Amino acid sequence: MKKYVLIDDQIKKYKKKINVSADKSLSIRWILMAAQAVGKSIAYNLLNSEDVNNSLIAVKKLGVKVIKKKNLCQINGVGLNGFSLKNNTIIDAGNSGTLARLIFGVLAKSNKTIILKGDKSLSKRDFSRVIKPLKKFGLIFKSNKNNLPLKFKGTNYLTPIKYKELKGSAQVKSSILLAALNTPGKTKVRCFPSRDHTERLFKFLNLPIKIKKNKKYEIIELTGQKQFSGFNYKIPGDISSSAFFIVLTLLSKNSEIKIKNININKSRTGIVEILKKMNAKIKLINKKIYNGEEVSDIVIRSSKNLKSINCPTEMNSRAIDELIIIFLACAKAKGISYFKNIQELRHKESDRLKLSANFLKMIGVKVEKTSSTLKIHGNPNLELNKNYIVKNFMKDHRIFMMACIAALTLGGKWKIHDPDSIKTSFPKFLSILKSIGAKIN
Ligand code: S3P
Repeated sequence: MKKYVLIDDQIKKYKKKINVSADKSLSIRWILMAAQAVGKSIAYNLLNSEDVNNSLIAVKKLGVKVIKKKNLCQINGVGLNGFSLKNNTIIDAGNSGTLARLIFGVLAKSNKTIILKGDKSLSKRDFSRVIKPLKKFGLIFKSNKNNLPLKFKGTNYLTPIKYKELKGSAQVKSSILLAALNTPGKTKVRCFPSRDHTERLFKFLNLPIKIKKNKKYEIIELTGQKQFSGFNYKIPGDISSSAFFIVLTLLSKNSEIKIKNININKSRTGIVEILKKMNAKIKLINKKIYNGEEVSDIVIRSSKNLKSINCPTEMNSRAIDELIIIFLACAKAKGISYFKNIQELRHKESDRLKLSANFLKMIGVKVEKTSSTLKIHGNPNLELNKNYIVKNFMKDHRIFMMACIAALTLGGKWKIHDPDSIKTSFPKFLSILKSIGAKIN
């Protein structure tokens, strides 16, 4: 792929229907669960991206057979802890925090040493958040300051744990639940809310999971070591990928888009609620259920009168991957938008709090940032006519995509580096943009 893309033209008005790529969180979870099921599982519409391909390579290294066909993927599961692997097997999670964190739980009962590594961005991310609870189960870790690369080893003598998960991280929660699945007895986690795909998948598979929710946190109990059979799974589109087309349409003139078959799990739809509060014309239609997950089409029209938002903190985890593109909408909204308790943004594929604040400053938007908050002084008349270069963003796919949407809606002449970053989550991003009329060189 090229070193950068050039965008010199705003997108012209359009009315289109599109499909975006399949959901990344669900794709990775299906692979990890299918590998541990007894017998054959098939996924339809599995995401074809680097993060997902690294997950497939990882389970193959554990002795699991994977057969990829044109529109389906088959995994011949080996049952809980039925893996056959050599000591010092290397698993390369690439850019994927989800694979890197969840694999510990999958391998909790394996007594072979694993070397886990990742790319530059993943090697800077915090693993203490998962290492801490997994050590309580009995896993052994050897690392330099809790960073990748690291070595770890599971144990035959896992003990169930009680744990308070205070970050609101789905990756931490899921890693614990996967370890609990391999552990005899009852594990109990009290956690701040985060996406609940793992819990839904466990319920779909009739695993003994109990969930109690109140406004602030949820308590999850799981009794481990129950084998489950292979299962077929249909993967809907990713709301995090849709987010870029939602904001593109919102900020374009006289345009409309219908994005088909998107997962609208309540723990992921913060973007819809936040943008509605900002006056966006956005509708969810044709609702249906796929394997215990709610799915719909999203219809969005250009909106002229966007207003600022004081974002309720309970929305943060429900829009965690979409906040940076929501910030761009805030730059065009009337008034000052305010986001608080968003420190988790600093621990993503890049420091998204810092990079998005710098990005907004670069395009002339006044921002006030602290280590956990961001204020954006919106300007409905914001239009750009200078030259802009976007680079050195840790190849963070979402920063790249956000910059493209800014270029296509605000004007100016843009050089945006590292287009290959989109391969981790949304390889078709640029070709879908072109199909609705974007000029990108
Ligand atoms: C994910 C959870 C989120 C999200 C990430 C994917 C997952 O991170 O940002 O892109 O699939 O579980 P947290 O672990 O911080 O919730």
